[in-house]
Amino acid sequence: MATSPRATQQKFEPWTDPDAKPYVRIEKVTKKFGDFFAVDDVSLSIYKKEIFCLLGASGCGKTTLLRMLAGFERPTSGKIFIDGVDMTSIPPYERPVNMMFQSYAIFPHMTVEQNVAFGLKQERLQKDEIESRVNDMLNLVKLGQFAKRKPHQLSGGQRQRVALARSLVKKPKLLLLDEPLAALDKKLREHTQFELINIKETLGVTFVVVTHDQEEAMTLSTRIGLMNHGEIVQVGTPSEIYEYPSSRFVSEFIGSVNMFEGRLVEDEPSYVRIGCDDLEAPIYVDHGVSSAPGATIWAAIRPEKITISREKPDATDNWTAAVVQDIAYMGDMSIYLLRLDSGKVVRVTQPNIYRHADDRITWDERVFLQWYPESPVVVTK
Ligand SMILES: Nc1ncnc2c1ncn2[C@@H]1O[C@H](COP(=O)(O)OP(=O)(O)O)[C@@H](O)[C@H]1O
Ligand SMILES: [Mg+2]
Repeated sequence: MATSPRATQQKFEPWTDPDAKPYVRIEKVTKKFGDFFAVDDVSLSIYKKEIFCLLGASGCGKTTLLRMLAGFERPTSGKIFIDGVDMTSIPPYERPVNMMFQSYAIFPHMTVEQNVAFGLKQERLQKDEIESRVNDMLNLVKLGQFAKRKPHQLSGGQRQRVALARSLVKKPKLLLLDEPLAALDKKLREHTQFELINIKETLGVTFVVVTHDQEEAMTLSTRIGLMNHGEIVQVGTPSEIYEYPSSRFVSEFIGSVNMFEGRLVEDEPSYVRIGCDDLEAPIYVDHGVSSAPGATIWAAIRPEKITISREKPDATDNWTAAVVQDIAYMGDMSIYLLRLDSGKVVRVTQPNIYRHADDRITWDERVFLQWYPESPVVVTK
């Protein structure tokens, strides 16, 4: 029985299998430029057929790490293995890798077809082999009908796909993409993201994609490696990174979050209470937390995990009063900004389920915010 791509994708978790061999192994890799650590002691395992996203702000070392995978840059220390082979003395052109650069250049004087065929001609492949591979690739990226056009007759998104086809046609086992979708507008970017996922399924290529766009990383990747100042700060699936961020930095980088600073007032194996000066009631979390007594900790609560009501909750924990400061109607949902008595502003999103809710909560109303014990994520750094 044929399984849908979605079903196979859900079961694809080689990183949870202790016997699975990573396709790419980065071991304690550091790259210094002078005294500056562009990449700082990074270790990563990437598995066959992953779309692994290196995510982070501009300047955090993503491109440098990618260039070391491609062989354009040598690590100052540490090792990179691809398919079990130490890459230290392997030049770029002998690696099973192709890299599509941030500012991809396609040849303006060549047609789409000629651009895609270029690398294969350099390899001196047979004419019909080149033709059939170029055709297959153009169909895959849905550019078949544009084969004879020149780049200036294409849209930005189509040019992007030419560059992608040109990288893929050489059948690299590992394709490195540096901010591949940055030049596209939002809609086209989304479309191309889904295409990339399909291409991965069809060709079985392993992708490492660099991006500074967290939404893109969330949509595209099997896993994300979040970078900050040359270091990998967390590796996980998009939902792990979103639901279980390991630090304030991670939870604030991925999506919006309300961060409440506090300290443990009750510390039990199965629950904790956190006293927080901004809130009227303590935060109660339904699991233990390992933190030094008295140390400052933070509870991160996502905007969609807080509810707003007019009635004062009949509960000892997990609520506070607030005044509606601003509302933005976004169609499918509304964003509320609510001011606590301390002055702190909390962000809450609510789906707009009812079309004619004439009793909607409105500006300047005094309301109550509430959340479940499983909603806050506690971070200690
Ligand atoms: N060849 C180089 N010489 C000196 N510094 C560099 C060089 N390449 C990159 N850097 C520095 O290393 C840091 C990381 O750069 P890069 O890997 O391009 O970041 P990203 O791709 O995440 O934006 C930046 O501060 C950058 O200025
Ligand atoms: Mg870069």
